[in-house]
Amino acid sequence: MWKVFVFLSLLNAVTVTKGLVPSTFINTSDKARLNSVFLSASPYGDTQSAHYAISGLKLLGEAVPNSQDVCKTLSKIIDKTVSSIYHASEAAKALGNCKIDVPEFKQILTDVIKDGSSVQDIAFAFLALKNLGLAADDAAVSSSLLAALKTDDSPASHGYAFMAAAQLKGDISKFVDNIEDVVAQADEVDEKYLQFEGGLYVTALVVDGSYKLAGKSNKAPTIAQDKVLKFSNYFLSRKHVHQLKSAYHFLSVIKTLTTNKFHIPIAVSLASPVAVTQADPAVKVRVTDLMGGSLGDLTITADSARHLGDDAVVISKKQFSAAASDKSLFELNFLQAKPAKGFYKLTINVSPKQPNSKLLGTAGAEVSVKVTTQVSVENVELGVADKDQATAARTTRLAHPNKAASILEADYHQKIVMKFQLKDKTSGQLMTAHQTFVRLTNRDTKQEIIFVTESDSTLTNKFDLDVGTNAKEFGYKSGKYTMELIVGDAVIENPFSWTVADVSLTFPEGGAAKKDQVDQYAKKPEIKHKFNEPEKRPPASLSLAFTGLVLAPFLILIILWFRIGVNISDFPPTLSAIGFHLCLGGIFVLYYFYWIQLNMFETLRYLGILAIPTFFFGNRLLSSIASKSAKKN
Ligand SMILES: *[C@@H]1O[C@H](CO)[C@@H](O)[C@H](O)[C@H]1NC(C)=O
Repeated sequence: MWKVFVFLSLLNAVTVTKGLVPSTFINTSDKARLNSVFLSASPYGDTQSAHYAISGLKLLGEAVPNSQDVCKTLSKIIDKTVSSIYHASEAAKALGNCKIDVPEFKQILTDVIKDGSSVQDIAFAFLALKNLGLAADDAAVSSSLLAALKTDDSPASHGYAFMAAAQLKGDISKFVDNIEDVVAQADEVDEKYLQFEGGLYVTALVVDGSYKLAGKSNKAPTIAQDKVLKFSNYFLSRKHVHQLKSAYHFLSVIKTLTTNKFHIPIAVSLASPVAVTQADPAVKVRVTDLMGGSLGDLTITADSARHLGDDAVVISKKQFSAAASDKSLFELNFLQAKPAKGFYKLTINVSPKQPNSKLLGTAGAEVSVKVTTQVSVENVELGVADKDQATAARTTRLAHPNKAASILEADYHQKIVMKFQLKDKTSGQLMTAHQTFVRLTNRDTKQEIIFVTESDSTLTNKFDLDVGTNAKEFGYKSGKYTMELIVGDAVIENPFSWTVADVSLTFPEGGAAKKDQVDQYAKKPEIKHKFNEPEKRPPASLSLAFTGLVLAPFLILIILWFRIGVNISDFPPTLSAIGFHLCLGGIFVLYYFYWIQLNMFETLRYLGILAIPTFFFGNRLLSSIASKSAKKN
């Protein structure tokens, strides 16, 4: 029964931490970068930057330059707000041997500790009193903090409350109980990271505060193992932080995660190149805490190594050997297991020689490596064949890296054929490569034409270049070309480009004329829009005759009018009559111009203008005629 339980809980530990174990840590370059973030904050403009910079340097174990001057500066930049006093007190404490006491501070700080103040103010005031060695009413702090948390229960406020409570005398269980609830509010990203809204600074504050509070209460905080690892992954993903406040909180929480009494996450990082080669067959891993510190004597085992392509497991329970010089460095000759080329994931188990229940991530750490190989090219045959294959190809065998002795000549009735095989030098087996190209470079123009070759089921690569059908690709440029074979792959150590031969290609005559069409990037001729060609007109005399015919009735009308004697004496000599007829005539003239040159819009515009007087005069004329005839009757 016990055995089953132990087995199950071990199994559980593996599944919850698989793939979650941090694969990086704060190394010397990271420390140097953080150091420069802290150093560049000086000269300090306010006590907050002094606090973060000085405490940050202290966490790194670096000295603060001119610490006595800095201490004097603190007294100058301090103002009478709670947060300014708090930050100054933290900075002074970190400096050591620095006194910033001012008599009125005690009153300012004590006044804030009451119901109705913010969590941050109460926490800062209390911590400042502690730092300055002044008396504080712990019970009042505790109750007003709890009251303030009722109105503001954001993760950041809880973080400040945890920090303060970690220094409180008396019952702190109410704060400790909050840890689980607050942690439950963190957001998970990619099943690998946990973070609070508000980012690095808030997340660091909460986790840091939780562990400090737990340290005070002597009870592990209620944060599940996988969550601690996910928080750790999140912090490490932000190790390039360069903002002062976040950098300080980041370093503080990482330090806490290496020194607390309950949970120490392990970092398993790859310390050798990703590529495992015959020359360098060892996989090296570094197993440390998150600051790169040693975890004592460890036994490191590769539980398995799985090929990512075919899932083949090539290693099972293989122990790493410890490097003599470095206690946290371990190596394993991976090629002893004769793994095929490709990508592998190693699952790594860490077991401390002295049992240590604090370590998190002892199972399920993963590192990725690739096994590379040298490739050789074999059975290379190159030749020219007739397009219709009436005659067998004349081929010659070639050996890498020699070039064909003679120039290969092919015209557009022929094709160039090449066959080759790639061999994995390590296993002696035929293989394929991701990239196998044939490149033809024109000797004069340096223009390159690249073809992909493909391998068949027997792993033989074939290249067939039909000169005639590919003429377009070459721009119909007959002449000398250099032919190269290019082979490469992520797992090939010796990718190569081999000049196989010089070839002389002859393309169809007249290709030059088509050359312009071939160059698809050349400037195209301008496109001019062309209207339908008008149909051919009849001869001018014919049109004239018909015009005469059309006008003839009008002429006849006039003649007839004179014959019968037109009486125009009744034409009223009024302005409206003359105006109306002039306008009417104007409209006919307009129609004539519409026919001759105006377009419809212009015509309508003029017609609109003419219509107004026409209507006006017409109306007057008609009404005068009407009244005249009424008189007559
Ligand atoms: C530290 O880690 C970074 C990757 O996070 C790496 O680029 C750098 O080379 C490492 N520095 C040292 C000194 O190992």
